[in-house]
Amino acid sequence: MRKITIAIDGFSSTGKSTVAKQLASALGYVYVDSGAMYRAVTLYAMQNGFIDADCLDAEGLVAQLDQIKIDFQFNKDLGYAEVYLNGSNVEKAIRSLEVSQCVSQVATISEVREQLVKQQQNFGKDKGVVMDGRDIGTVVFPDAELKLFMTASAEKRAQRRYDELIERGDEVTYEEVLKNVQSRDHIDSTREDSPLSMANDAVKVDNSKMSLNEQFEFVLKLSQEKIKA
Ligand code: DC
Repeated sequence: MRKITIAIDGFSSTGKSTVAKQLASALGYVYVDSGAMYRAVTLYAMQNGFIDADCLDAEGLVAQLDQIKIDFQFNKDLGYAEVYLNGSNVEKAIRSLEVSQCVSQVATISEVREQLVKQQQNFGKDKGVVMDGRDIGTVVFPDAELKLFMTASAEKRAQRRYDELIERGDEVTYEEVLKNVQSRDHIDSTREDSPLSMANDAVKVDNSKMSLNEQFEFVLKLSQEKIKA
């Protein structure tokens, strides 16, 4: 069976990773969460004093980029690969609101993007990959056979992210989470390098009113059509 590349882009908390994991598991493909890579670099920056209050020392961080090793290791119990930063599992730490509040700034740094994009292209060199992010269909895999662009209202997305954070025991308010979602939308779509935008040949999936199951059936059908094409 022919293997394809599936690129999933869209605003934050639109359920990109949920649909990407479902597709990867149904098709036997590798799932790569590119946002986790930007989050891991952000965590490194926080742990090493390059982010202090609201200030980011981009030059200092760029000078240490070659010391940041990011890997994914498949976790059988979870059914997907977890992210490792310099050998430590950081899957939980990178999802905190603190990291979410700084990651969009880190993702504006061209040197960071250049390094992560190279690694992402390498992950996908043999096809059979589902990757989600902001620039996958436009920059990382412009020739991907299937490109999806996910969207939903900011309020709906904030509610989903808030529920996730509360479930894992974080102390956050819905208003804080909504503010973060809106601020990330703004930074991600207005940055100079690789801003979030829908590729001309992407299929738009607005899931504000779709159930998870409906969404999965829809994207699975699209994938199967592309594989057969
Ligand atoms: O998908 P996520 O929310 O985990 O992504 C975290 C941040 O990383 C997001 O605010 C923008 C950035 N990002 C990016 O610029 N390019 C990508 N391919 C993936 C994420």
